[in-house]
Amino acid sequence: MSIVIFGSINMDMIAQTPRFPQPGETIIGTHFITLPGGKGANQAVATAKLGCLTYFVGRVGGDSFGRDLLQNLEAFNINTQAVFIDQNTSSGVAMINVETSGENTIIVIPGANGNIAEADVIRLQKILAKTNLLLLQLEIPIMAVEMAAEEAKKLGVTVMLDPAPAPEKLPDSLYTFIDIITPNQTEAAKLVGFPLKDTDSIKKAADNLLEKGVKIVIIKLGEEGAYYATEKEQGFVSPVTVKTIDTVGAGDGFNGGVAAALDRSLSLKEALKWGSIVGALTTTKEGAQTALPDLETIEKLINN
Ligand code: RIB
Repeated sequence: MSIVIFGSINMDMIAQTPRFPQPGETIIGTHFITLPGGKGANQAVATAKLGCLTYFVGRVGGDSFGRDLLQNLEAFNINTQAVFIDQNTSSGVAMINVETSGENTIIVIPGANGNIAEADVIRLQKILAKTNLLLLQLEIPIMAVEMAAEEAKKLGVTVMLDPAPAPEKLPDSLYTFIDIITPNQTEAAKLVGFPLKDTDSIKKAADNLLEKGVKIVIIKLGEEGAYYATEKEQGFVSPVTVKTIDTVGAGDGFNGGVAAALDRSLSLKEALKWGSIVGALTTTKEGAQTALPDLETIEKLINN
């Protein structure tokens, strides 16, 4: 059993401030730190920390960030043999502002992630043959995401898409290759074209995504928990209450938790519980990967 993540890897430049600045305003921050991130790499670290055999496929630049980012993945025992070092490009970076409540804003400069193309999908193909779950996000070109999903589908590999950051629209053809889609409320609203403001609109959005051909819809609702729907069952998942200090990577943690549980052949409901716990715990520490919990922590919480 193993998981492959095809996606982005960034160096996160995180500034903490008492509040978000207004347009045109300068404010004094309280803390700055540089940490490995990127939605793809965060999800890879999440599954690796939860004991899954994990492969990461993507691109770093030929710079010192690229070297550090790769070394970091390797320190988590993630297989990086299919990561391409794009010598003439810089590595992806994310400028992150976290304010006192733990809420964040993120600007991603894709760098090498933006060059991902068919050649990377060809390197991914060899790994897909050895795995049962492919995790995708949208910080790399959509064309590569769609090609990867199609290849995985042909090989019978389960495809889980985190549509983040959300585009205004996803190609209809992509939905038919996706088994599990995991938008948050804002992302789901963009995909379906109406706001998710109450229970009815959340259910309607999930139904809408099921109609497009996805098998399992999981809408992440932050502090409200999550909502899931399949053709046969649906329901809300209770939130896990924690003391939030930094929400960076919480969605990635959620996805990693769900994927790790499914990789262990646990049920969808159990996987949602894993996702909720991992996502919540990720908000209790600074940064994304640094905050992701390990298997021992999750097992203790699940068994209590
Ligand atoms: O989801 C959090 C991630 O979004 C950060 O690590 C940042 O790199 C951006 O990709």
